[in-house]
Amino acid sequence: MPFLHTARTVFTVLGGLYVATVVLLTIPYFQTHTLFLHAVSIPWFSNFDIPEKYGLAPNKTINLKIQTADNETLGAWFVLSDPHYHSLPAVPSQPIDYIPAALKGRPTILFFHGNAATRAFNARIQHYSLFSSRLSANVLAIDYRGFGDSTGSPTEAGLALDARAAWNWLITNGATADQILIVGHSLGTGVSALLSAQLSDEKISPRGVVLLSPFSSIAKVLETYSILGVVPLMKPLAMIPWVAGAFSPPPHLLALRRRIELVKRTIIHRFDTEALVPRMKGSILIAHAENDWEIPYTHSEALFDTFLDPLLPSSPSFPSNTLSQDEWATFTEQFSKRKEAREEIVTTVELHNFGTVQECMESGRRVVLLKTLAGGHDYLGVQEGVQDVIGRTFGFFD
Ligand SMILES: *[C@@H]1O[C@H](CO)[C@@H](O)[C@H](O)[C@H]1NC(C)=O
Ligand SMILES: *[C@@H]1O[C@H](CO)[C@@H](O)[C@H](O)[C@H]1NC(C)=O
Repeated sequence: MPFLHTARTVFTVLGGLYVATVVLLTIPYFQTHTLFLHAVSIPWFSNFDIPEKYGLAPNKTINLKIQTADNETLGAWFVLSDPHYHSLPAVPSQPIDYIPAALKGRPTILFFHGNAATRAFNARIQHYSLFSSRLSANVLAIDYRGFGDSTGSPTEAGLALDARAAWNWLITNGATADQILIVGHSLGTGVSALLSAQLSDEKISPRGVVLLSPFSSIAKVLETYSILGVVPLMKPLAMIPWVAGAFSPPPHLLALRRRIELVKRTIIHRFDTEALVPRMKGSILIAHAENDWEIPYTHSEALFDTFLDPLLPSSPSFPSNTLSQDEWATFTEQFSKRKEAREEIVTTVELHNFGTVQECMESGRRVVLLKTLAGGHDYLGVQEGVQDVIGRTFGFFD
């Protein structure tokens, strides 16, 4: 039976690789590399001195170095807004001289990219291009420590310092807080949340925060993440009864089971945005594509609900005695009260063939959830419709 034999070999190899992956993830070195993927430095051998090579107009983008509080040096690009760039009589010979005037003239988007690749990655260039044209905004895009031409290696606390250094750089060069919109994509939404919470604690109010394709926390991502959108990482483990603790595993699997439980307990870089929500003040836009196969849009729904939570009656607890009619009646009543309260504070607008905007006005700030039909994980933010929702929510067209 050569076929069966081959099939068994294939499954043994795949199973072995899978187990090896899970085991490796409990080792800090591998966990850090798997999360940040900063070694995947696409485009390879980027020349950050020549943004033109990646599609940006001549001398519209200035290559910079930004110093962090702990002495790392970050590579960064400052992109002039198109209205400012076009108002110059010719291609500027010293574009760096125009930064202070650009910061005073138009709002600036402080952009935090996702994991892997550099600030020169094509999908990111498309974001800067649209931010500076459709939204007429300046853009500051940094590579975190360990990414691109930046020094150091990434950690959660380190990325928070990088974000703050970029913010401080804008303020030092003449931007005001209310002119800076913080925009994060994917892993960058975790960074944006950290910066937003820190600024809110200091009573500093940016123009707002945009979370593109966010996740609620790395622990929750592990539960739903699929490698390349295909191989679910934790799901097979959750489905094996002994992993869930229902049965004792055979002795030789005990060690593996312990490793698996460790993966979730040993997460080093937690990026727990959900836990930061109560500290994040000011207006928030959360956007997610329904066809995002890397991070499902349920993460955004969960985040939006966390923002609404203080405005709603508490979630009812499931009846402890499922046979009690009284308990069921109380449960149903509390449930529908919460649903009604939610409908009262959230307005929903369907944008035909594009998506749905849910919005809640709360003590002077707007909390918006945009769900789109298209865009996937990386190209959500380069849809004109998404740019326009950003522009309208944060007054870029006024
Ligand atoms: C940062 O580097 C500079 C020069 O390289 C040095 O003088 C300074 O002491 C360093 N600061 C910290 C906090 O390491
Ligand atoms: C672009 O700026 C650099 C200096 O930053 C300058 O040397 C170069 O001549 C400029 N290019 C053009 C076309 O003016």
